[in-house]
Amino acid sequence: MTGRFLVLCAALALTACGGGHTEEGAALFAAHCAVCHGGDARGGGGANVAGLGRTPADLTVLAAQNGGDFPVARVAWILEAYSFGTQPRRRMADIPPLQSKQTRRLRTGSGTMAVAQPQAAIIDWLQTVQRR
Ligand code: HEC
Repeated sequence: MTGRFLVLCAALALTACGGGHTEEGAALFAAHCAVCHGGDARGGGGANVAGLGRTPADLTVLAAQNGGDFPVARVAWILEAYSFGTQPRRRMADIPPLQSKQTRRLRTGSGTMAVAQPQAAIIDWLQTVQRR
């Protein structure tokens, strides 16, 4: 009886977890990206970041700049690079909380790709803040 109860709880926890990617992405963005890109992702936060030589991009127009399709693959590559601090044109600290062995397959323009779960969550959230 107790065992059954535990299984039910695990199933409920998974259900709750399954719907929460956007919230997880919002929290990750607030913690690791907002300082430069602004809390609303419009690029307004960077003015106060010491040593930042470039204006952080407005991340709410990525879809509009790509013919209306959110560029999942490009953003996923950028986030993977951020997670290890390997951005080619910019010196940046790595962001270990973006790394995970747990991946999720995201649909791209030409198929699907496996993306580390925290990065996938950020991509989910970014897609909800795109402007037309
Ligand atoms: C230290 C400041 C800083 C932090 C932190 C930061 N970014 Fe950036 N980001 C920038 C700057 C500056 C650019 C634009 C210049 C460039 O592309 O070299 C940029 C560019 C980007 C681009 C490319 C936009 C385009 O139009 O191609 C994406 C996507 C992006 N950032 C997402 C994120 C996400 C998501 C996070 C959090 C995990 C994050 N950034 C954290 C400074 C930052």
